[in-house]
This record gives sequence, C-alpha cells and structure tokens, in this order.
Amino acid sequence: MNRRDFLQRLASLTGAVVLVPSIHACGGAQGSDAPTSMPSASMLAPPPAAKPADWDAIAYNLARGNAGAIPDTYLADVNGPEGENSHLGKHLPWLPTVESGTVPDGFLAIMWGNPAVGHAQHPNAVRSEANNFEGHWYNWIRIRKATAEDAEEVESGYSEWPGTTESDNGAYAVFGGGDITANAGKDTIYLAALPADVQSGDVVRVWAHCLTHGEYVDYLTVP
Ligand SMILES: [Fe+2]
Repeated sequence: MNRRDFLQRLASLTGAVVLVPSIHACGGAQGSDAPTSMPSASMLAPPPAAKPADWDAIAYNLARGNAGAIPDTYLADVNGPEGENSHLGKHLPWLPTVESGTVPDGFLAIMWGNPAVGHAQHPNAVRSEANNFEGHWYNWIRIRKATAEDAEEVESGYSEWPGTTESDNGAYAVFGGGDITANAGKDTIYLAALPADVQSGDVVRVWAHCLTHGEYVDYLTVP
C-alpha cells in the first residue's frame, strides 16, 4: 500500500478529510497544462503558472483565501461589503511609475493596492501589539514568467520593515522619495528580483505573502 492509498484508507476509516499533497518538480511548470479557465479545486496548490484566459484576481484570491490562504481572523473583512476594494484589492500588486534610477537592473518595483482602480493602499508597520508583534509588510514575493513551460521562480525576502537586513535579497524604495514610514508606510515600494529568463513585455506571476493577511496572487506585465 503506498502513501496515497494509506491516507485514503485512513480517511475512509475515520471519516476525516485527508488532503494528499501533490508533488511538483522543483523549478518545473506548476500545473503544466496552460489553464484556460479559473481553477476551482486545490486552491492551496501553487497558483496557475500561466495566466488563465478568464483571470479574475478578486474572485481567485477570494476563493483561495477562504480555502486557507488568508488567516481566519481576516476572512470576515475579506467577505464583507468592503472586501473587494479595502481588503482583497488592497493586497494586489501593481506597478508604480518611478523615477529612472530607482529600480536596479533585474528588479521590479511593486506596490500593493492601486488607488487608480479604487483599491485601498496597503500600509506597512513595524511589529507591535496591533499586529500580534508579527509586523505588517510582505515578507516574501515570488516571481516567475507566466508560462506553462518550465521557468525559474525567484523569491525575494524582506525580513524587516522599514529596512531590510543583509540576508534579504529584496529591497525597498519610497514612492515620491520621502520618508518610508510616513503616510502609514503606504509609499513603500518593494523591489523584487526578476528571474533571469524574464524580459520587458513578459507577463509574470506575482505570488506574495503579507505577514498579517496571508497570500495573494496576480499577473503583471514587466515594463
Ligand atoms: Fe496586509
């Protein structure tokens, strides 16, 4: 009896739901068939590698969030009347226009919650009682070319805010160039590393984690 059979037998004996993890080859295309529609099952599996034809970032992140990608403590807000703009939209990445020289070669400048489409801007905060001393910022951003083919995924880490540490490969900049902690940290720009196989004009999958509000996914075109 292999492990899958064992887990399924266990589930039938106990009546419990046992999730059998699927195994992805490291660096391989996750969900190697190009998706033509929004995924509905296995929402906590890695997001589709290629952008689904009918991609809806709010609907996808709402479903994946309720399936476990968003902490229970935040679900009432996410599912509430302001959920789309004030909570889900607030956590979606967008690409601000920044002054030349702000973004190092091989990096992408990302902010969260685009006011131009009515989304609340994501604040950032140091560890405090207000956030269970976890802090409030994105501590990892994973980027890969949005393709069903094999592609490298690069994870940028941010172990502190308002400044990163020496061990981090991610970095910060400030929209407008002022104090990063002003405006509740909403002017923070995340500089995230691009994989070597990504060029200007490519669509990338951005999969990222807010320390207090969970994981979010969207697809962006590299400028
Ligand atoms: Fe957040």
